[in-house]
Amino acid sequence: MDKISSIRGMPDVFEADANYLSELSEILSKIFLSHNLKEVNTPILEQTELFVRSTGATSDIVNKEIYSFNDRNEQSLSLRPEGTAGVVRSIIQKKLDNSEHKLWYQGPMFRYERPQKGRFRQFNQAGVELLGFSEGSSDLEIISIVCDIFIELELEDSVLKINHLGDKNTKERFLAELLKYLKTFKGKLNDNDKEKLTKNPLRLLDSKDKDLQDFLNKGPKIIDFLTTEQLNLLDMIQSIFGRYVEIELDSSLVRGLDYYTGLVFEAVSKNLGAQDSFLGGGRYDDLSRDLGGKEMSAIGFAIGLERLNLIKKHKNTKSNKVISFVTTSSKMNALAFKIAQLLRSHNYDIRLETNFTDASLKAKLRKASKLGAKFVFIIGEEEFESNTITVKSFDEDGYQVNMSFDEILDFYKNI
Ligand code: HAM
Repeated sequence: MDKISSIRGMPDVFEADANYLSELSEILSKIFLSHNLKEVNTPILEQTELFVRSTGATSDIVNKEIYSFNDRNEQSLSLRPEGTAGVVRSIIQKKLDNSEHKLWYQGPMFRYERPQKGRFRQFNQAGVELLGFSEGSSDLEIISIVCDIFIELELEDSVLKINHLGDKNTKERFLAELLKYLKTFKGKLNDNDKEKLTKNPLRLLDSKDKDLQDFLNKGPKIIDFLTTEQLNLLDMIQSIFGRYVEIELDSSLVRGLDYYTGLVFEAVSKNLGAQDSFLGGGRYDDLSRDLGGKEMSAIGFAIGLERLNLIKKHKNTKSNKVISFVTTSSKMNALAFKIAQLLRSHNYDIRLETNFTDASLKAKLRKASKLGAKFVFIIGEEEFESNTITVKSFDEDGYQVNMSFDEILDFYKNI
């Protein structure tokens, strides 16, 4: 029969990678808790309309990358490409869009992108959303959380790029100038950029077209249109957090989702190659309104766990202390399982591998050595009669001692 393989861009994750992902989520949740954020879980499937109205009809996500299908009721559903839209939808649905919420989430996201290093069709994000907070201290709080991630994960070769997209007024004035400036270049735009020009000209700023980029570099810059308060915010971010994180002002940073207003930021790493951005976010004051909710200013970010994994290259801090526990006959198994249960509850840092099969003691010792066990605990006939366990060390000294059950619990606790 033909074998069935996994879907392209949706890898199976084993051992070190799986370990690292769970470790990362532990570290991140610790940081989020320290900022008094509350955890939220929204569904993986949502109505397609949610993403069309949030990430934007012109965004790559909705145009090319979304996994959509009709369910049995002919309703168009989509696998979530990101977490922000679902969180805001949920707060509106619960009629909580008139108060403040500091939330974090984590889970798989789906985008139909061309798979390559650091780019998958199923990947994991951890994200933070501060809802109900207008521009000011919440922007600094968000950068402070990002900063903690940089510090805790020791992300030395990374840079945090920041920009400000202005409010409606600034944006309108800037766009008018930009469109005027682009007039002479209009005929040279590729099809993709032509569409951006009609639907969301701001997105032209991060165009991949080198000639357009050169042209734009000499054109109007959004920074020249910002108010004093908006410029002050960028200054404050640099002066407070610049000592912990390398921060770079980048006036071409607009981000790929249409919902952003105000501060936007992205963290990039020199160790990632083409997909160099591992964290992205910004302010999205209009999203709640666009989704039928009340006016609710908000700011947030998300971090890609697989990309972090690539940067950090498995700094595995999980315990690698293995102990093998063996018996020499099945009549000892009931006792051995009871002891194993007790041992684990005394020290969850140890990987206790039980081997109570019918294999010979010699085979069991060989297997323990192959597993990299530090010690083997043995219950044979003699130990069974005397209520003891033999501890054999696999270190160079190779000692062997006989211990009572109480002694072995104490020993296990302190390994
Ligand atoms: P985003 O920049 O689209 O923002 O994604 C955030 C992070 O998810 C990226 O920096 C990257 O690490 C990871 N990521 C995105 N696509 C892929 C992929 N195909 N494979 C692997 N990793 C990927 C958002 O999703 C916004 N919701 C962030 C946000 C929250 N803005 C405000 N609040």
